Amino acid sequence: MTTKCVDDFRLKLGARELVPIMIGGMGVDISTTDLALVAARLGGIGHISDAMLPTVADRRYNTKFVKQKLKKYKYNVENTDKSEIKFDLGEIDEATRLHVGKAMESKRGEGMIFINCMEKLTMNAPKETLKVRLNAALDAGIDGITLAAGLHLGSLALMEEHPRFRDAKIGIIVSSLRALQLFLRKNARTGRLPDYVVVEGPLAGGHLGFGLDDWNKHDLATINAEILAWLRAEQLDIPIISAGGIFTGSDATRFLEQGSGAVQVATRFTVTDECGLPDEVKQEYFKANEEDIEVNGISPTGYPMRMLRGSPGIGATTRPNCEAYGYILDSNGHCAYIDAYNREVAAHPNEKKVRIYDKTCLCTHMRNFDIWTCGHYAYRLKDTSRQDAEGNFQLLSAEHVFRDYQFSKDGKILLP
Ligand SMILES: Cc1cc2nc3c(=O)[nH]c(=O)nc-3n(C[C@H](O)[C@H](O)[C@H](O)COP(=O)(O)O)c2cc1C
Repeated sequence: MTTKCVDDFRLKLGARELVPIMIGGMGVDISTTDLALVAARLGGIGHISDAMLPTVADRRYNTKFVKQKLKKYKYNVENTDKSEIKFDLGEIDEATRLHVGKAMESKRGEGMIFINCMEKLTMNAPKETLKVRLNAALDAGIDGITLAAGLHLGSLALMEEHPRFRDAKIGIIVSSLRALQLFLRKNARTGRLPDYVVVEGPLAGGHLGFGLDDWNKHDLATINAEILAWLRAEQLDIPIISAGGIFTGSDATRFLEQGSGAVQVATRFTVTDECGLPDEVKQEYFKANEEDIEVNGISPTGYPMRMLRGSPGIGATTRPNCEAYGYILDSNGHCAYIDAYNREVAAHPNEKKVRIYDKTCLCTHMRNFDIWTCGHYAYRLKDTSRQDAEGNFQLLSAEHVFRDYQFSKDGKILLP
């Protein structure tokens, strides 16, 4: 058994040396600024998320972006066709600058704050909206950008004119060697390699980069080794950051010993004070058993997603809310949830409310914390804290969990 712990390693990113713990992005505002600030203060890397920033800004900074958009498109609320609903690029820019700016001005310590940017939020104008989001984050001083969910075949080009394009850290999340190779090939023209590659296995939370039927035939260690070997053979000196199901400091140490530059972790931080989920929802995460966790196909993005079976957003009656949100509308103004909803309404003409089981209105339900996405090992969260006489678990500080990852050995988990 190894005598080492995570703190015996450092992640080198250019001239920087960091504690090799990265807290993964968790949309929508589940990985809050406060959570990212803790990671940065302790010398690691935290993520904020760029998902639905106009609504996040409304909630946090008293802007009125959603109200303005809804007012503009109110005439369309009853219409089943949502293709006319567009975002105002100036507002996306403003919301991104606000959120990123606040995080960066509060940052203390030796660590870094990155933003998790989901290409799959196509916003009825994929290129234009992504370009604004990426460049606004760079303008507002973000330390780095993690390109997530999607292949990002043209994303680097969208920021290559930015003066910080070569100085900010840019990474990509992949779940296979093939996806990495494709990304490198398609972005070669920009003459810029990613500064890090997050290798995310099938036990992660959020959306998965695997098929609904085959995710359980893959494992992180194998994909990780494959990508490491290939990078070495190609003499590409890019650190890889392993993610998905790394639950203890010892799990993390094992990946670092095998050559990973760092780990990305998330689920253990869902039950911290700094996490954006409501406290009652954090208790649901704590209390979850293995059979309460499923991987399903209800996300309209087309990617499988892992979540608690009891998520209120499953089988809900929500009318598509694209006039207010509309983040998943593709370049033709389509979202798979709209089709599912319209189909059910047509099939039950006499019912006031119909329940939709095969898809969910992800915008509405992620915004309201009603899709309880989590990693596979969420059922072990109960082993990370103490329960009171009423059966409620004590929330943890993010610092406690971070330090536990950093210093623990022998598969142990430090209780509060
Ligand atoms: C609640 C939650 C929300 C997440 N949301 C996102 C997201 O918006 N974008 C993303 O790239 N990954 C997302 N993830 C994945 C994490 O960033 C991370 O890579 C993964 O969950 C790590 O595995 P672990 O949770 O087993 O530690 C999310 C994970 C969780 C638990």
